[in-house]
Amino acid sequence: MIPNLQVALDHSDLASALKAAVAVGHEVDIIEAGTVLLLQVGSEVIECLRQQFPDKLIVADTKCADAGGTVAKNCSRRGADWMTCICCATIPTMKAAAKEVKEIQVELYGDWTYDQAQQWLDAGISQAIYHQSRDALLAGETWGERDLNKVKKLIEMGFRVSVTGGLSVDTLDLFKGVDVYTFIAGRGITEADDPAQAARDFKDKIRSLWSE
Ligand code: 5RP
Ligand code: MG
Repeated sequence: MIPNLQVALDHSDLASALKAAVAVGHEVDIIEAGTVLLLQVGSEVIECLRQQFPDKLIVADTKCADAGGTVAKNCSRRGADWMTCICCATIPTMKAAAKEVKEIQVELYGDWTYDQAQQWLDAGISQAIYHQSRDALLAGETWGERDLNKVKKLIEMGFRVSVTGGLSVDTLDLFKGVDVYTFIAGRGITEADDPAQAARDFKDKIRSLWSE
């Protein structure tokens, strides 16, 4: 399977986010209302994206930690298909959220265990997002074997795994031949001189690495 490409819109104002969405929305498989954007402008942005892209998968990257049912209902009413929960949220929070949207994705940050991961699977949650945090990358972390092995193990367990965090086209080489479900790129697309071309470059690279 060829991995999907998701664009993360993490702008701090609605107008810039929508401008980027219009520029790249048709180039990608999935559009994300990013955490930064949702915190800044609220869930109204999901509705704007849904109006603009009636047939696209839209993710609300809420990184929800509590009140899963309420947060998910609000996102779903605005038009989100999927929503993220932070990995330290309780199983009841994730299950409550899962009732209100089509799918929940568990955002992996900080400390989590494979025992917990099995509990998410047992609760019917089969999407995980393997994340290198923006702040970890700023502190000098880089993508490497350690990340690759964790991603592979999660896939073996049965997760559909998305990979994200400061991705560039070159980062994708590390994952060649691995059944990554989706690559999520934010700044690598939206801060490029030509965001639509940057999205096409990601797509081309994914196609070339996964169809060889
Ligand atoms: C940060 C996020 C971002 O949406 C994700 O990391 C993708 O953005 P970028 O490619 O700019 O790192 O969820 O918490
Ligand atoms: Mg995000």
